[in-house]
Amino acid sequence: MRSLVREVHLHPGALILPLFLCPGEGVRREISSMPGVFNLSIDEAVKEAAEAAALGLGGLLLFGLPASKDDQASGAWADDGIVQQGLRALKSQASKLLLIADVCLCEYTAHGHCGVVRRDGEHYEIENDASLELLAKTAVSLARAGADIVAPSDMMDGRVGVIRGELDEAGFDQTPILSYAAKFASSFYGPFREAAGSAPQFGDRHTYQMDGANLREAMREIDQDLAEGADMILMKPALPYLDVIHAAREQFDVPLGAYQVSGEYAMLEAAFARGWLDRERAMMETLISIRRAGADFIVTYFAQQAARRLS
Ligand code: PBG
Repeated sequence: MRSLVREVHLHPGALILPLFLCPGEGVRREISSMPGVFNLSIDEAVKEAAEAAALGLGGLLLFGLPASKDDQASGAWADDGIVQQGLRALKSQASKLLLIADVCLCEYTAHGHCGVVRRDGEHYEIENDASLELLAKTAVSLARAGADIVAPSDMMDGRVGVIRGELDEAGFDQTPILSYAAKFASSFYGPFREAAGSAPQFGDRHTYQMDGANLREAMREIDQDLAEGADMILMKPALPYLDVIHAAREQFDVPLGAYQVSGEYAMLEAAFARGWLDRERAMMETLISIRRAGADFIVTYFAQQAARRLS
């Protein structure tokens, strides 16, 4: 009877699994702050994708660790970039899964910022408009390699419009944009930066990611991204920002996802390892809470575990 009267449900098709692709072969390197999450070479990622598809997951969100980094983030937009190669392999071998490619520069720049940086001694500035060009180039290159959706997470102003324009120009007018419209400058991204090797080498991300105190500003960011042509929006982090997810759901009638980020995962795994929380119950409770707040789909490192539980 509880199931019959339950207001929100979870299903594997609404879960998206992030994968971190790295060069090499047979590589499966666990991230120390995220037990059960790995840097995977493409051959290993293909195996992981097959398992994800068998579990009925909605899709994969792809990040890359390039062999080398530079100031122009060339690994992000190179035809043979790590994610581009991964997309081609996954497309041919795991075609059932939706492949979402993260669009950002931080994994590919030597300084670890999400945009182009101008430095003048101690002072530095993120060059918003110069970054847009590279981001659009990255999005087109990912679409060309087979991305079903591109997901800009850089938080530069105006990027959705520029990416939409360049995608259309290049003939990818059918490729949707999932915009990380409200992405807060959060301490909960810490473990991800270990996983993706993307911690900023100086300064922080507060000039482009949002202030966690600002809900109304988050609504303005979403409004802008939708006006520029975003097809769906992603909110992150999830659990500390359920009120923002809820407000977005009330205000915008578009597909809306939430990203249960690395720190949320790490925090729970740490408690599970100590036997302080019940793994299955706590995991499912966080996911259902994110759905209840209003997310249609959830990006989560628990995707496989939760899907197994659900089936
Ligand atoms: C890239 C990006 C980040 C995350 C997703 N895309 C890191 C950041 O902004 O520093 C974080 C995801 C997670 O913590 O799981 N800009």
